[in-house]
This record gives sequence, structure tokens and C-alpha cells, in this order.
Amino acid sequence: MKSNSTSSLFQDKFHGYTKRDRCPNLNIGSALPFAVTSLFIASVFTFFLLYSPNSLTLIPNQPSHSPIQHQQHNPSSKPQKEQKRCDLFKGKWVRSPRSSSYYTNSSCTTIPDSKNCFKQGRKDSDFLNWKWKPDECELESFNPKTFLHLVRGKRFAFIGDSVARNHMDSLLCLLSQEEIPVDKSNDTEDRFRTWHFPTSNFTLMTLWSRYLIVAEERIINGTASSIFDLHLDRPDPDWTSVLPTLDFALLSAGHWFFRIMYLHHSQTLLGCVYCDDHPNLTQFKLQFAFRMALRAAYDCINAHAPSRALIMFRTLAPSHFEGGVWNTGGYCNRTGPMGVEEVDWRRFEWEMREVQMEEFERGRKEGEERGRRYEAVDVTRAMMMRPDAHPGEYWGNKYMRGYNDCTHWCLPGPVDFWSDLLLAILKAQV
Ligand SMILES: *[C@@H]1O[C@H](CO)[C@@H](O)[C@H](O)[C@H]1NC(C)=O
Ligand SMILES: *[C@@H]1O[C@H](CO)[C@@H](O)[C@H](O)[C@H]1NC(C)=O
Ligand SMILES: *[C@@H]1O[C@H](CO)[C@@H](O)[C@H](O)[C@H]1NC(C)=O
Ligand SMILES: *[C@@H]1O[C@H](CO)[C@@H](O)[C@H](O)[C@H]1NC(C)=O
Ligand SMILES: *[C@@H]1O[C@H](CO)[C@@H](O)[C@H](O)[C@H]1NC(C)=O
Ligand SMILES: *[C@@H]1O[C@H](CO)[C@@H](O)[C@H](O)[C@H]1NC(C)=O
Repeated sequence: MKSNSTSSLFQDKFHGYTKRDRCPNLNIGSALPFAVTSLFIASVFTFFLLYSPNSLTLIPNQPSHSPIQHQQHNPSSKPQKEQKRCDLFKGKWVRSPRSSSYYTNSSCTTIPDSKNCFKQGRKDSDFLNWKWKPDECELESFNPKTFLHLVRGKRFAFIGDSVARNHMDSLLCLLSQEEIPVDKSNDTEDRFRTWHFPTSNFTLMTLWSRYLIVAEERIINGTASSIFDLHLDRPDPDWTSVLPTLDFALLSAGHWFFRIMYLHHSQTLLGCVYCDDHPNLTQFKLQFAFRMALRAAYDCINAHAPSRALIMFRTLAPSHFEGGVWNTGGYCNRTGPMGVEEVDWRRFEWEMREVQMEEFERGRKEGEERGRRYEAVDVTRAMMMRPDAHPGEYWGNKYMRGYNDCTHWCLPGPVDFWSDLLLAILKAQV
């Protein structure tokens, strides 16, 4: 691989990406060699870059053509109208006793043990007594009846990594207080789950895709290496094959990009990320890989999603390791949220979110030109303030005992508020 040719290829691809054949006709990579159960937890921590947050905000539920919108305030409008104009993603956590209708680890029977923090021994529960308060309006609490009414007869998929599954598990608990879902899954590895709510005829699924594009883990000496070959021009057929059947797609990605990655495009090796020991290869920043993966996903969606589908993207949910990283004794044992001023907004996740929002707006703009509907579920800011909401030591995973899980989120817990956002979006869109 010569750097000259790879970098000019990169330039061409980056600036004038051809849309042709970006979305596979379901004939490539259908037998992905994901042979290994990798329970590697995202390690997002070592790469802190200096970065000044800006106040990019996005107004949901309002047709947009400009990539970035600023908040508008319209005090004279009716509450519902105001809700539509309000930036739901900018606000703070305020004290609010947990409602009695909220689920518990007894009333929801589908909480995975690894997220069932109380079962695993967590004693403090005050972290449940906080509510997200957007600066300019109230965010309604989740109502399973309303949600199931809106999604009657529809198919909804979470597409992404284990944090996407975390959200699905949360929604499952919220909905199961109204209607008991039937498990239609057939996946012992818990990567592809399907639940059906018979009365509402609502199908909820999770589709496992770590990178959203085809990614093959290198097996070195018979062991999963956590080094990946990424194919920037090949959206992952594990979800694109299901896409045409969906009414709602909620994508997310991020935590797996903090690894050594070899980047391929059109069967050509472009270069790599975090591979300083390869002087012959072009070095790319992980943002490039991330951006290209998202772009491939949106191009595929804009070419192949059914026109009825509502496309949503959830922004990165940060990890919160203190005193180390995941494998050096990092912990997360806070018992309450941080205020806005306590958060380190230079964190790398905040920059990753910026990439996500840029690509989201790009995908949305192209999609809207073709009559598609896009919405962001921009949780990064709110979750930056919730270092108290991770399982930490209370996750009991038999494979990883000895580490703290400061990446996933306790159930019940603040992650449930992601579905408050979801409901607000659906109410405006459906
Ligand atoms: C729920 O959590 C309590 C601790 O708060 C624990 O004793 C119990 O076993 C858990 N029940 C289930 C079903 O997870
Ligand atoms: C249930 O929903 C599916 C689509 O998700 C639809 O094809 C089917 O006809 C529905 N069944 C009933 C009984 O309404
Ligand atoms: C379950 O998986 C097995 C093996 O992959 C397959 O043969 C079977 O048809 C699946 N069953 C259902 C209900 O999907
Ligand atoms: C594979 O294992 C052998 C024996 O332990 C070792 O000599 C060799 O360096 C390993 N190869 C790689 C690529 O790690
Ligand atoms: C770099 O390229 C040269 C010439 O093709 C080759 O001999 C060398 O092994 C390569 N080095 C690495 C680290 O791949
Ligand atoms: C959190 O854990 C660290 C390391 O074990 C410990 O030093 C600290 O006191 C703990 N803080 C709380 C509030 O428990």
C-alpha cells in the first residue's frame, strides 16, 4: 500500500463519494465470520483531546434544511406547540421522586442480570430520583399505553452495539408494565432479539451491529484480537437486510471505534487507525472511520429504507471511568448526577457526538429530499452528567468479573429517559 495512492483515494472518496452500490444487495458478507464472543467493553477513555464544546443544538420535530439550528423561544405558543419547538436535549437533571408506576427489578422480568444493579448488590437508589428537565419545556414521562398505541402493528429495530441493546431492554421494561411481550428470539448470544406484543401487534427487535458496516475481527493465533478490518463501502447486511421491513429504525454506534482498525474501501486497503507500528500504511484518525461508517449507513438507508420508515439516530452515551480505565481499576461509584459545570466538556465523546450530528444532518438532508423522515435522539449531553448511572461493580458478568462496567446503564435507571425522548419524537411524527 503506497501512501500516495491511498491518500488520493481517500480524497476522492471523502469528497466525492459515489452513491452507487453503497448498500449491498444482500449478497455480500452474508456469512460474516464473527466467530468469537467478544465481551470486550468499550474503552473510550484514553483518548481525551482538548476540545471546546459549542452549543450546537437540534430542535426535534421541526422540518429542517439547515444543518444546525439554534434554540427558539416562543413563550406565547400553546404547551404542545412549545414542546415541538423546545430543544429536548438541552437541560439539566432535577430532583423528582420516582413515580410509583415506574418499573422495578421485580415488575420487569426481562432485565438482564448484568444491568440488574440492585440484584447485583447496588444499595443506593437515590440515582433514580432525578428527572431530565429541558431548559425550555417539560419532557413528559414515558407512557406505555401511548407508546403502544402509536406503534400498533409496526416494527421497530434498535440497530447497534450493546448500548443499543441496553436501550431496548429499558424500553422493554417500560412497555411490559402495560403489555407482556412474547420472546420470539432464537439467539443464545443475545445479539438479535425479537419481542412481539400480541395485543398491539408491535414487534420490537435489536439488531447487533458494532460498526454499522461490515467489520471482521482478526483472529490471531486462534484468539480474537480486538483488531478489526472495516469495509467502509459495505453497510452491515445484518441490519440492512431487515431494513426494508421496518417502520422505525433507531441506530447508534461509537464504542467499538476505539480500537485498532484497518480501513478498506472497494477491496482496497486505505490505511489504518491506531496502528503506529505500520509505517507503510496511511494513518487515519478514528473520526474518519466513524464518519465514513455513518455515511455508508445513511446512504444505504436513503437508498433502501421504506419511505414510511422513521429513521432515528441516538448519539453517543459516554462511559465514566474514574481513577483508571476499564482494565486498570477504573471505577464509577458516584451516587448522584453532576451539574453542567462539573462535566468535563472536553471529553472525547463530546467530539464524537459532533461527528455523529454532522453525519446525521447530512443524511437527513439527503433523505428529506427524497421524502424521508429523520430524527436525532441526542442523549450525549444529558448522559455526560450521569456518572452515577452505570452498573460499576454491580454487574456480575461471569466473564469479566474484576472489572467495573462504567459503559452500560443500570435498569431501572436514567437510561429509561431515552424512551421519554423517543415517545416525544413519536408523538410528533406518527
Ligand atoms: C431485586 O433487587 C433486590 C435488591 O434490591 C434483590 O434482593 C432481588 O433479588 C431482585 N429481584 C430480582 C427478580 O431481580
Ligand atoms: C401485525 O403487524 C404486521 C406488520 O408488523 C402485519 O403484517 C400484520 O398483518 C399484523 N397482523 C394483524 C393481525 O393485524
Ligand atoms: C432457530 O435457529 C435455528 C438454527 O439457526 C434455525 O434452524 C431455526 O429455524 C430457528 N428457529 C426460529 C423459530 O427462528
Ligand atoms: C502465536 O503464538 C506463537 C506461540 O506462542 C508465537 O510464537 C507467535 O509469535 C504468535 N503469533 C502472533 C502473531 O502473535
Ligand atoms: C513496508 O513496505 C516494504 C516494501 O514494500 C516492505 O518490505 C516492508 O516489509 C513493509 N513494512 C511493513 C511494516 O509492512
Ligand atoms: C469510590 O471508589 C474509590 C476506589 O475504590 C474510593 O476511593 C472512593 O472512596 C469511592 N467513593 C465512594 C463515594 O464510594
